[in-house]
Amino acid sequence: MNPVVERIETALKSAEASLTSAESAAQVEEVRISMLGRKGLFATLTKDMGSATPEERREIGRAFNEGKQRLQDLLAQAEERIKGSGSGEKALDVTLPGRCGAMGHRHPITQMIEDCVAIFRRMGFIVADGPEIETVRHNFDALNAAADHPSREMTDTFYFADGRLLRSQTSTVQIRTMDAVKPPIRIVAPGRCFRRDTPDATHSMNFHQIEGLYVDKNVSMADLKSVLQIFAWELFGKDVRIRLRPHFFPFTEPSVEYDFSCVVCGGKGCNVCKHSGWLEIAGAGMVNPNVFRNVGIDPEEWSGYAFGMGIERLTMLRHRISDIRNLYENDVRFLSQFN
Ligand code: DAH
Repeated sequence: MNPVVERIETALKSAEASLTSAESAAQVEEVRISMLGRKGLFATLTKDMGSATPEERREIGRAFNEGKQRLQDLLAQAEERIKGSGSGEKALDVTLPGRCGAMGHRHPITQMIEDCVAIFRRMGFIVADGPEIETVRHNFDALNAAADHPSREMTDTFYFADGRLLRSQTSTVQIRTMDAVKPPIRIVAPGRCFRRDTPDATHSMNFHQIEGLYVDKNVSMADLKSVLQIFAWELFGKDVRIRLRPHFFPFTEPSVEYDFSCVVCGGKGCNVCKHSGWLEIAGAGMVNPNVFRNVGIDPEEWSGYAFGMGIERLTMLRHRISDIRNLYENDVRFLSQFN
């Protein structure tokens, strides 16, 4: 290859490398001067051309023109790129569209609470709340918990020195509400609860529940069942079936556990439902007459149902999250998936 042509190619290669890594307009300008400037490569070559034969001149001429064109393209590209990235030193282009900061969004637990509340509101429930620091009466006594019930232990519930506690369930709001207003009552109460559990993939020392309470005349288990079925449909779709199994809770009699047909496998059996086809979602039942007596409501006149369920569990099922701790680490890479 003609040595002049070779010089052009070598110089172009190094110019291309500098231009693709250039970060400022000044760096691009530097390359332009070194190649096209008065003392740049092309000017020098023009001077050297004098000694070439006509044959060589044609070859060099072609390489020269093509090289110059290629260089100009590279310069234009680099300028465009730098202008686009905003780090150029060109004047501010006020006609460019604005760049929007990343938008935040609600935490998946908050989203779940709001969705549950919206469903119950459509069925006529209103939102009630109560404090996270509670008395033994609201958390246990008035809810008919046996005096020796293990959940009252220091090892299960967080107590303050003055005997108050961090509520271990949102059922406290049943008592708060019935203390304050006369029936009929139809409330849901979402909120934070605390238990002395060792954290693992499915346990957290603080978590959320949503409680429901309905008190009126002639309330039956059928009313409870229909509300729970509609809730399941609204939250996870029309294919979800529900099942009520006999259980025990101090504040309800009879008591049930409320299951969804598995929202992952549709009930066929999978890892999430431990191959049973069913998912435990909530506790529920007819308000125990003792609870009514504890808040001064006549159980002969009034009846009611109650339910309570874990928000984390619903959130984990909705998004197929396998470890509850992900919900509390506030890792933006994790949370930004739930926009
Ligand atoms: N408070 C219960 C718990 O934390 C859940 C529950 C069960 C709430 C039955 C209720 C109910 O209102 O009727 O395990």
